[in-house]
Amino acid sequence: MYRSRLEKNLDKHTLDYVSSISDDSEIALYDIIGSQAHSIMLYENNILSRAEVKKILSALEKIKKENLSAKSSAEDIHELIETLVIKKTGLEVGGKMHTARSRNDQVALDLRMKIRDDINVVCTCILDMVETLVVLAEKHTATAMPLYTHLQQAQIGTFSHFLISYSDALLRDFERLYDTFGRVNHSPLGAGPVGGTSLPINRNSTAKMLGFSGIVENSIDATSNRDVVAEYVGHIAILMTNLSRIAEDLVIWSTSEFSFVELSDQFSSPSSVMPQKKNPDILELTRGKTARVIGSLVAILSNLKGLASGYGRDLQEIKPSVFFSSRTAISALVVLNSMFATLKVNKQKMNQIADSGYLAALDIAEALVKEGLPFRSAHKIVGNLVHTAHESKISLSELTTSEVAKSVSSKEFDAKKLGKIISSINAESSLKNRSSLGSAGISEQKRLITKRKSKIKQYRNNITRRSAQISLAIERLSSNVRTLCR
Ligand code: ARG
Repeated sequence: MYRSRLEKNLDKHTLDYVSSISDDSEIALYDIIGSQAHSIMLYENNILSRAEVKKILSALEKIKKENLSAKSSAEDIHELIETLVIKKTGLEVGGKMHTARSRNDQVALDLRMKIRDDINVVCTCILDMVETLVVLAEKHTATAMPLYTHLQQAQIGTFSHFLISYSDALLRDFERLYDTFGRVNHSPLGAGPVGGTSLPINRNSTAKMLGFSGIVENSIDATSNRDVVAEYVGHIAILMTNLSRIAEDLVIWSTSEFSFVELSDQFSSPSSVMPQKKNPDILELTRGKTARVIGSLVAILSNLKGLASGYGRDLQEIKPSVFFSSRTAISALVVLNSMFATLKVNKQKMNQIADSGYLAALDIAEALVKEGLPFRSAHKIVGNLVHTAHESKISLSELTTSEVAKSVSSKEFDAKKLGKIISSINAESSLKNRSSLGSAGISEQKRLITKRKSKIKQYRNNITRRSAQISLAIERLSSNVRTLCR
């Protein structure tokens, strides 16, 4: 349709190479709605007549119901939709729809409309998963389990503490995406190919009709930059990285060696050959898909870094990376949410491991600090105790008085008293005494949970309000379209 300057049609194989039509199904509806807003604005500014806008809007309404995925010789969805409008209304009318715009501002518009909707969906899925985590945490505020550093046993903790740590990371993902929405929600429409137009258009009017909070003002910036797209995919990549780490914890905890948790059969895979297997494939795929989303971010940044200002066709290649990232993040959140909701927690095993080994070492050292010892001396004494216990292959609580006496000189601390301190400390007492802000202590778990619950409520309201603003604008536009189609 656009080839008047060129003598020959695009080579068939080459059309496949340059066409984005299959990826564009994700933005087809946005392109139609954007075209309706643009046409109404052209009518409001006397560029289209009442009869012309009626025909164009009616044609676009019909196209909404058509299957646009069919093979076509169009290079992209913008060409296809304009061709269909011209087919339905004739060149005299349909040929006016593309007045004062370009595919360059059009695709930038479609992408921003798609991303702002995706942000709202991803944010809602994040809140759903956080809610599941918090509900589960509430059941496990007193479920003791070991905490790890270097994947070596570190301190006595609670399962709830782990779950809240996941919630907090996900709430930060929410906040990042929520902020980005503010930068995405500006309309590039009317920027034209790169430098604007001499025709009397009203960019603020189309922005308002489409529910944007404003316009991307500079027409070069509006058409040729995709930094907010990179920002969005960057946040999705961070979100996926968080999910991937959570997945890794579950992989470890569901091994026979740990058996802290058991995945529901619905979320496990068998082996084709070993009849006993119950594999955490879904969690492994979350790790694997995260790698691809990170790849998408790298692809976008690499695409952008060498581009001269002004639209370059390279930008077309950014779209599938965005669509893949959104799809992956939404599915990962939905699947992991269900996995947590159906997770079997082996409380007994967790408690038993938390009470064994040398996990109470720091609690014992802190008890000595409370008795007036410098921390460094306490660290040395308890280090000696652990050494002795390890040599005898026993736990700290199994040390005899004489073994305790071997680890501490009477000058440093009374061995008998030390023995009493050791036997008074277990997982339960440790979690009762742990009181610092954000610690694994039981009282802290309750406070953390209450705070997260009210955050979820507040964040849900924010997202509902935002989604409603977009829906309201689109509904108003639809009713405007209906009126003009009469
Ligand atoms: N299919 C293109 C894209 O997705 C649309 C813009 C094409 N613009 C152009 N001047 N060739 O980016």
